Amino acid sequence: MSIYLDHAATTPMAPVAVAAMVNQLSKIGNPSSLHTQGRAARKDLEGARELIASAVGSLAKEIIFTGSGTESNNTAVKGLFWKGRDTGRRVIVISAIEHHAVLDPSRWLGEEEGAEVIELGVNSDGAVNLEELQNLLSARGDEIALISVMSANNETGVIQPVGDIVKMAGPYGVAVHCDGVQSFGKIPLSFADLGLTALTLSAHKIGGPLGIGALVLRAGLDIPALLHGGGQERDIRSGTLNAPAIVAFAAATKECVDTFAARNERVRQLRDHFINEILLRIPDAFVNGLAAERLPGIVNVTFPGTESDTLLLLLDAKGISCSTGSACTAGVQRPSHVLMAMGHSQTSARSSLRFSFGATTTEDEITQALEILPGVIEGARLANLR
Ligand SMILES: Cc1ncc(COP(=O)(O)O)c(C=O)c1O
Repeated sequence: MSIYLDHAATTPMAPVAVAAMVNQLSKIGNPSSLHTQGRAARKDLEGARELIASAVGSLAKEIIFTGSGTESNNTAVKGLFWKGRDTGRRVIVISAIEHHAVLDPSRWLGEEEGAEVIELGVNSDGAVNLEELQNLLSARGDEIALISVMSANNETGVIQPVGDIVKMAGPYGVAVHCDGVQSFGKIPLSFADLGLTALTLSAHKIGGPLGIGALVLRAGLDIPALLHGGGQERDIRSGTLNAPAIVAFAAATKECVDTFAARNERVRQLRDHFINEILLRIPDAFVNGLAAERLPGIVNVTFPGTESDTLLLLLDAKGISCSTGSACTAGVQRPSHVLMAMGHSQTSARSSLRFSFGATTTEDEITQALEILPGVIEGARLANLR
């Protein structure tokens, strides 16, 4: 038995994406070559670019393909900081709950490149504190090189007020980057409507392949590159373009757009049923960010009196795949910085699990998970007492 409840980590590839990728893999042609095969590959690739651009409300020329969401975040944070530093802006503002692909490059810039990194706090429901940002902008707006706040958090699913942040940053001429990896395809997300400077996407969270991402970067804006070479992608991301992964990314995007409302509503209903039953069947369990607006497919639950890494293994042994949501380095589980920022103690942060649902999640999987979970939690609590 296999019950995959870890769609926020990665999704199964959509069959249309697999078909598009396999089809492209059987063709030759470097999209930068001028001959017939190269031009054919370029045509496929530009079609994919148009499609992704229209799904995210940007111009095609604003899409820069990268190797991952992590690369897009690094390119945006470092590039916008270096650009801002040229005009005397050295402050990077991020939220305390960003993914490590934003946190770590920011902290690296702080340690190595003279940035001052300010982390905005969140309330107990996990939403960024706008008052803190407004005070910061009023006091030091002309020192800020960029603000980077995610569209929705990968551990709790809590949606962040990115539109408000862009409006607040506008008068101070501050660039705003948004990590949209978890929200793309799950909630409406428009680059133009939000007025963002840069937006990160990743294919494997929406049924596309691993190892392909995009940075949507405002047309005409030039930022320093991380990779130098053949000058592809506006000279911001050199490297021969991965046409098979890109057309598969586009195929997954198209399916996401075509099924958007029905799929997300179905996932939301499964999630709400899951939450209601967990709260009924498991004493003392609570859902993190319950009062906040959240993505349809992510639930983060604390089970006091347990340890999440033990729970993960126990559930895995019963065929349920979920996650702690936090980074795991060399087998050592760190308590989630996201839950800690929301006010959890280390112990309580270490008693939490993320369940995430997607297009392929079935009612049957949820029913079975709900039958298995209470016993596993009870067993883990008893073992903890011994
Ligand atoms: C919010 C967020 N940002 C960035 C990433 C990194 O994306 P990728 O796996 O494509 O490097 C992830 C992946 O877990 C994520 O959830």
